[in-house]
Amino acid sequence: MKTKSITTTFTIYEKESELLKEDRQLLESAREAATRAYAKYSKFQVGAAILLANGEIVTGNNQENAVYPAGLCAERTTAFYASSRFPGVPFKKIAISAINPTEALTSPVVPCGSCRQVLSEYENRFNSPIKVILGAQSGDIWELASVADLLPLGFHAGFLPEK
Ligand code: THU
Repeated sequence: MKTKSITTTFTIYEKESELLKEDRQLLESAREAATRAYAKYSKFQVGAAILLANGEIVTGNNQENAVYPAGLCAERTTAFYASSRFPGVPFKKIAISAINPTEALTSPVVPCGSCRQVLSEYENRFNSPIKVILGAQSGDIWELASVADLLPLGFHAGFLPEK
């Protein structure tokens, strides 16, 4: 028997000014996108902004529904839109932010498991790491070098039978 451990390394920025300008702007786009969320039921507004390899920035947010599970998180709304608008263009970076109307968030919100899975598909598809930038309205900003850092031991197409 043996034991293995997997560690995740990420960077914490205490000052926003320490971020690359491009990353600061992407986070600002995610914050702005959060204000446009359709979060009628949870009231929890999430925004995402994806920078594509062609320089385009695509933003999106969570879209809820009276049939609760029919809604979709900000990250998947944005990733699916980016891929449908610019098919075949790798994702370089994603910034994610959220607004809790009852209590100002001071630490980052992290993507749910399904969103990690979806983002990892794009990372694997283009074999190119997607930098993840997580930040609330204020407080520390977290940065991960790749989606794989958020989803170790993730399922991927390589497990499926050959066609
Ligand atoms: N939500 C996101 O959009 N992204 C996340 O990473 C976590 C949760 C949304 C889904 C739902 O509309 C609301 O936040 C509450 O879960």
